[in-house]
Amino acid sequence: LKPIQSSDGSFTLYSERFQEHYHSIKDGALNESLHKHIIPALSLIEKEHINILDISFGLGFNSLTTIYRLLNSNSKLTIHSPEIDSDLVKSIKDFPYPDEFQPLIDIINSIAEKGFYESQDFKIYVHIEDARHFLDNWSGEKFDIVYQDAFSPKRTPLLWTVEYFQSIKRVVNREAILTTYSSSTPVRMGLYDNGFNIYSYENEIVRNGTIASLSKLTNLIEIDMERKKLVSSNASPLRDIDFRSES
Ligand SMILES: C[S@@+](CC[C@H](N)C(=O)[O-])C[C@H]1O[C@@H](n2cnc3c(N)ncnc32)[C@H](O)[C@@H]1O
Repeated sequence: LKPIQSSDGSFTLYSERFQEHYHSIKDGALNESLHKHIIPALSLIEKEHINILDISFGLGFNSLTTIYRLLNSNSKLTIHSPEIDSDLVKSIKDFPYPDEFQPLIDIINSIAEKGFYESQDFKIYVHIEDARHFLDNWSGEKFDIVYQDAFSPKRTPLLWTVEYFQSIKRVVNREAILTTYSSSTPVRMGLYDNGFNIYSYENEIVRNGTIASLSKLTNLIEIDMERKKLVSSNASPLRDIDFRSES
């Protein structure tokens, strides 16, 4: 796979199988990771030890950018990340990552070779399996942050349905923050129908995304989902039953 340069100068890939880029070319791979996921999530979670669910690992921008942001802090991190493509994970040691990831080279090599990295402060485990299967079987600690960064609902709908978000709900803390680039009403409805509060996340660097939490958050733009149900023609969540036959 040939690396493709995105608008902020960082590289990403295009998946022939899913017919989609791994990151937004328009927003930039690093900018997307930093400004849609990492900065909003870390600004809302204040814990010394943070447990993160990164769906899905791909090139690992979200996991790596999180560590990059916390390198000189007192925070400790454990990240679990399901990913179905084992060849991709093995190949990351040769990927032209942004200069910011230079201090993370040992982490990148360890993940490529062994599928995990462990130090006193940072632990990452990439699970080579379907994300739904991972969620159904997770019995470890609950997560504080979820990076919902699967390919689009059009390409991998089973990672965006109301049943999928029910599985997410089972594995997160009440105060957990979920971040996603999607601002589509059916995706937001899948979260809302599981009890998540829905917020629009807006900044000047990347296009709007969504933040969701089972707890009420302040200082964010809350979306009135009850009103959406009344006025919007597509205010229904995606459902497994509509896609199971395709999988
Ligand atoms: C948009 S990319 C993730 C990008 C990644 N977060 C990053 O920063 O590089 C989506 C990833 O989901 C993986 N994937 C697709 N279907 C999956 C599934 N059912 N379970 C787990 N991973 C899946 C793909 O192989 C791809 O690596």
